[in-house]
Amino acid sequence: MDARLSASGRASIMRRSSALVLPARRLCQARPALRPVTPVLSIACALKDRRSVRGFLPNPVPDDVVEELLGLARRAPSGANLQPGSFIGLRGESRRQLSDELVQAFREGRQEPEDYSYFPDPLPMGLRRRQVASAQALYGALGVARDDRAGRDQQFERNFRFFDAPVALIVTIDRRFGPGGYMDLGMSLYGLMLAAQARGLATCAIGAVASYPGLIRRVLCLPQDSAIVCGLAIGHADPEAPVNRTLTERAELSDYFRWAE
Ligand SMILES: Cc1cc2nc3c(=O)[nH]c(=O)nc-3n(C[C@H](O)[C@H](O)[C@H](O)COP(=O)(O)O)c2cc1C
Repeated sequence: MDARLSASGRASIMRRSSALVLPARRLCQARPALRPVTPVLSIACALKDRRSVRGFLPNPVPDDVVEELLGLARRAPSGANLQPGSFIGLRGESRRQLSDELVQAFREGRQEPEDYSYFPDPLPMGLRRRQVASAQALYGALGVARDDRAGRDQQFERNFRFFDAPVALIVTIDRRFGPGGYMDLGMSLYGLMLAAQARGLATCAIGAVASYPGLIRRVLCLPQDSAIVCGLAIGHADPEAPVNRTLTERAELSDYFRWAE
């Protein structure tokens, strides 16, 4: 079940899929010409302006808009075009039950083995500093003090209600995928966030739900080979919500890039 593709297995899938590549002339006939890439500025703005939003207006987002956003996100590239990952839209009773059970599990301090590991354990000091800074940005915007455990728990609990966003998604992946599949799915997810933003919508990824993969599989009747990656909230940002004043910084270029001569 957990078998990861060996390097040779991966190369063979890539080779097989490259056999499907059309010669250049046929490709041009098969697909309409690509539109010239002019809206560079708006893409740059979307990349700069996007941030995680955790307070939403009750305005609904029509199903066809959600489906359109997913279709756009699915244009993301992926190794051998395998397009890993699935999205489950929650509504009605399934959303209510899932959120209620997640909140209850969190309140009881229940623990489950997660389907994948996210952070290095233990976190090296440099990363720990970034984690603390992002927590400070969030709780600072809310006016929740560092030692206010109840205030922090209250905000954390909101993860499990998808921050009351009109759209709540659960993101899964076939657990046989290794890091490459998660990388591809991440590109889709980012595409989804940016497509939502282009539509005037806001998003927040919710890794917190991945703490309860067994519970989620049970409530949503998912098979064992569906690994729970994260949740995603989508909706109209509430401009008045203090939590949406959260602003995070990024490391300096020199921290993550160098030229090798
Ligand atoms: C995969 C993933 C999982 C995340 N999980 C959570 C979460 O559980 N709760 C939360 O409030 N924010 C979550 N975030 C949002 C991050 O905290 C946020 O992206 C980061 O602090 C940078 O801030 P920004 O998105 O506003 O630029 C998650 C982001 C990603 C990409």
